[in-house]
Amino acid sequence: MAGKVVLVTGGTGGIGKATAIGLAALGARVGITGRDLTRTEQAAAEIRSASGNPDIDGFAADMSSQAEVRRLAVAVLDAYPRLDVLVNNVGGFWAHRHSTADGLEHTFALNHLASFLLTNLLLDRLKASTPARVVNVSSHVQAEGRIDFDDLQGGRAYSGQAAYSQSKLANVMFTNELASRLEGTGVTANSLHPGVVRTSFGAEDQAWLFTVVSQVVLSFLKTPTQGAQTSIYLASSPEMDGVTGQFFANKKVKTANKVANDPAMTARLWQASADLVGMKAAIS
Ligand SMILES: NC(=O)c1ccc[n+]([C@@H]2O[C@H](COP(=O)([O-])OP(=O)(O)OC[C@H]3O[C@@H](n4cnc5c(N)ncnc54)[C@H](OP(=O)(O)O)[C@@H]3O)[C@@H](O)[C@H]2O)c1
Repeated sequence: MAGKVVLVTGGTGGIGKATAIGLAALGARVGITGRDLTRTEQAAAEIRSASGNPDIDGFAADMSSQAEVRRLAVAVLDAYPRLDVLVNNVGGFWAHRHSTADGLEHTFALNHLASFLLTNLLLDRLKASTPARVVNVSSHVQAEGRIDFDDLQGGRAYSGQAAYSQSKLANVMFTNELASRLEGTGVTANSLHPGVVRTSFGAEDQAWLFTVVSQVVLSFLKTPTQGAQTSIYLASSPEMDGVTGQFFANKKVKTANKVANDPAMTARLWQASADLVGMKAAIS
């Protein structure tokens, strides 16, 4: 990965930080994002130390806000004349419904719309850096996800689990639609399940059951380093050259929710997402 530039969103902790360490150890210049500047710079210093690579940059932005995502994209475009890999890793679980600065439901806004908007804002730079890759961190719960086009914001009845599964299915649908729109450009897009990993996942707003279960199963979970392996593989392996529109777990292609392979549904989600971020639906 020497000479390559990678951006990992949500790189201050958990799977994202382990992904950044792994890619930095392979020689890439790595940018990470997090909400808080001090925490982001601290994480960048830890990634430098753990990887032995000095070329780590921290970008602070609250990605639940579209204005902040736009500001982040400008900072990244200013800092990086080329961008070889974008790892859309940021995400989380919230047991209760929260609204973002844009008045949107937080899980959908952060887990899906932030990655959708950031990718589109960085797309020309990725196209100018081909061969380039977009890697989207989804989850195995995409299989039970359902996109409720009549209530994408969970305004009628919110369940943390349903909102999370919907957002993770949206990650896979976005990936597949992006892959098809990018056919022939030299930019690939794939999604993945990292495994069930011991991180700060869900800690900001836990469900009671989640707390009890997580205490019981904690010792069986993957470490962040183990959980980062499929992201690192999709971002860096020569075996992934030209592979696009696939869903992976444990570095192997897996069958995704059939909705994610339905072009009418993925196009419909793309249009709804473009409307929610105030963007034209077509890739120019
Ligand atoms: N852990 C699992 O078992 C598991 C399983 C399947 C899929 N996943 C997926 O893996 C990805 C990473 O999860 P994780 O377990 O590593 O979670 P984590 O430990 O909670 O890390 C989340 C990262 O996202 C950042 N972040 C959170 N809210 C943000 C916001 N509003 N703006 C900008 N950055 C924000 C955090 O940074 P700051 O707090 O510093 O802002 C942190 O770097 C997520 O997409 C998750 O859905 C996780």
